[in-house]
Amino acid sequence: MAGLRVEIEAMADPLLQAQGLVKRFGALTASDRLSLGVEVGELHALIGPNGAGKTTAIAQLAGELNPDQGAIRFAGQDVTNLPIERRCRLGLTRSYQITSLFRGFTALENVALAVQARAGHSFRFWRPAGRDRRLIEPAEALLDRLGLGGRAGIRAADLAHGEQRQLEIAMALATGPRLLLLDEPMAGMGPEESRAMVALLSRLKGEVSILLVEHDMDAVFALADRVTVLVYGRAIATGTPAAIRADPNVRAAYLGEEGA
Ligand SMILES: Nc1ncnc2c1ncn2[C@@H]1O[C@H](COP(=O)(O)OP(=O)(O)OP(=O)(O)O)[C@@H](O)[C@H]1O
Ligand SMILES: [Mg+2]
Repeated sequence: MAGLRVEIEAMADPLLQAQGLVKRFGALTASDRLSLGVEVGELHALIGPNGAGKTTAIAQLAGELNPDQGAIRFAGQDVTNLPIERRCRLGLTRSYQITSLFRGFTALENVALAVQARAGHSFRFWRPAGRDRRLIEPAEALLDRLGLGGRAGIRAADLAHGEQRQLEIAMALATGPRLLLLDEPMAGMGPEESRAMVALLSRLKGEVSILLVEHDMDAVFALADRVTVLVYGRAIATGTPAAIRADPNVRAAYLGEEGA
């Protein structure tokens, strides 16, 4: 039986499978028959030059943008036409940019609110999220796990930039994702903050599947199990970091130009 189970798992569908996504903005094709799979437990990086369509791809997966063509399956279900919240409830969650933080609330209150959002209406109007133990305890545990435990009482507005980005990830994790979509989590960070974010992502790796858009190639090659390279909306290659580094098409289209 054990052998059979291993075999069945090996044949299991990827956690996420985007198939033939096409997204046009007027004459521009931002996703050009884009197919992409993320396996359970995988950290999959999506790389490519500016304007290649990485954010557009993430937006379609998260449900912010509807593809003109193609389909998205997640955890065995067709989610192509599901709204953001329904995808989030299935475990397909995007970490939003700093604009989604409640700047006047503490780090702990922000995460408690995200826990509350996950718990849904049963918690609403109960008492302020920052005081309810059922929200506070998981929120504290998450902050600890992300290395922000010592910053729980600081207002989001007063956190350093890198800490704010970590807080966004804590809030996304509070929704209980199976796949976390991250669009340039290291953008605007100095080397120290970037290192902290890489360390955070490597701790999360394996616990939650991650699709990571990132320009920092050192981070990508250190973290990713597989990499997909996007150029003009098309996936020109998918493979292990070593295979991607050695791929002459990739070097010509992207890595070469960056001098990597
Ligand atoms: N809402 C929109 N309307 C029109 N054009 C858009 C829109 N969103 C994106 N684009 C265009 O689609 C292309 C892909 O943009 P996208 O933001 O997905 O690229 P990206 O790979 O995320 O780039 P970057 O690395 O700079 O973040 C670009 O040419 C961009 O100008
Ligand atoms: Mg982008």
